[in-house]
Amino acid sequence: MRSVYVLNGPNLGRLGTREPDVYGAETFADLAALCRDTGRELGLSVDVRQTDDEAEMIAWLHEAADGRIPVVLNPAAFTHYSYALRDAIAQRTAPLVEVHISNPAAREEFRHTSVVAAVASGTIAGFGLRSYVLALRAIAESA
Ligand code: DQA
Repeated sequence: MRSVYVLNGPNLGRLGTREPDVYGAETFADLAALCRDTGRELGLSVDVRQTDDEAEMIAWLHEAADGRIPVVLNPAAFTHYSYALRDAIAQRTAPLVEVHISNPAAREEFRHTSVVAAVASGTIAGFGLRSYVLALRAIAESA
């Protein structure tokens, strides 16, 4: 079965309690279950991870690049300023879909910039947790 990483950046472990008006009431455990269930339907083995640590996230991206493993990535706040993350993504050897639960373009000005979008395969934002389902579909349908 094809492996996919679903990697989540800072503060996403607090889904459910974190600004529920923006990110919804579902928890990170709910998100992980949704991704695994979607993977099962699509014939993908989904490994869901979350970190608040930039170095750990970069290590996971290196691991994905070395293993030719597709990635669904919610870089969270790293999206807006981490050139280190961008440089790690640029080394990708398989599709990588940037996802956001909210629609950053409709929020504060600083969220309008993604320093990683140009090195991702594409971006899905604004559909709540369904952004991840759509991203997994995009990966399942990619060659
Ligand atoms: C987010 C949007 C980012 O601006 C924010 O820093 C996050 C979550 C989203 O999924 O909507 O932490 O990536």
